Amino acid sequence: MTYLDLIIDLFKNTPRQGPGSTAESLQALALMDLPNEALTIADIGCGSGNATLTLAQNTQSKITAVDLFPEFLDQLKINADKVGLIDQIKTLEASMDQLPFEKNTFDVIWSEGAIYNIGFKKGTKQWRKFLKPKGYLAVSEITWTTNDRPKELNDFWNEAYPEIDTAANKIKVLEENGYRLVGYFYLKPESWIKNYYEPLALEFDAFLQKHDHSEDAKAIVKEQREEIELYKNYQDYYSYGFYVAQKIIKTPSSN
Ligand SMILES: C[S@@+](CC[C@H](N)C(=O)[O-])C[C@H]1O[C@@H](n2cnc3c(N)ncnc32)[C@H](O)[C@@H]1O
Repeated sequence: MTYLDLIIDLFKNTPRQGPGSTAESLQALALMDLPNEALTIADIGCGSGNATLTLAQNTQSKITAVDLFPEFLDQLKINADKVGLIDQIKTLEASMDQLPFEKNTFDVIWSEGAIYNIGFKKGTKQWRKFLKPKGYLAVSEITWTTNDRPKELNDFWNEAYPEIDTAANKIKVLEENGYRLVGYFYLKPESWIKNYYEPLALEFDAFLQKHDHSEDAKAIVKEQREEIELYKNYQDYYSYGFYVAQKIIKTPSSN
């Protein structure tokens, strides 16, 4: 198994693949003034579909759930089937920087904890054309919650994801690229610890055993443990910011 296969194997059975909560998905949804009719939604980087199912349950919508890895999409289909929501959801194996959608397709583009894979700037710019005019973008993205922070933390995240920034700067990116901000909040600590890190840590022993304590498996668990420790020590300085923005029409020639 490659390193990537191992990572997928560790994460595919966890309830979610990144921090978040149903309450916060609903909080973001509540910021949108959506027409009371069947909506078209894309959930990009959906993983095993925690947010996809919340959206299906709470809107009359057809959702296209996109992920690069079929293992997550298979799990999403199992989860959706269990709760009777499979008819609302179509899965699509695709990379988020090469999406096969037509312009002006979606009322809502949703993406929790995933846009970092291509970068916030590139993702928000590229996806805009797929939104209908006045369509909504809802993305959660790692965000500094203060202006200053300890060097160890700053170095870690700047190495892992150089686009990490404050909400003010993320909002500026949205405003410079054809969106108006509708609302912003950041995820609560329990959305990291209870909903994400604790269920993930419960998998570590079985994962190591399943993969015979291979060097790669041990390295993956070590990396995850370090990330958990970092969050526990420095949670006052960063979180996932949830950004809800609306597509505005820039100029007659814009898409
Ligand atoms: C941190 S997880 C978040 C998953 C889910 N949205 C959640 O909140 O539980 C990031 C997701 O992005 C997916 N991903 C990574 N690179 C991708 C790409 N280039 N295109 C589409 N999905 C990608 C991963 O497979 C993973 O499911």
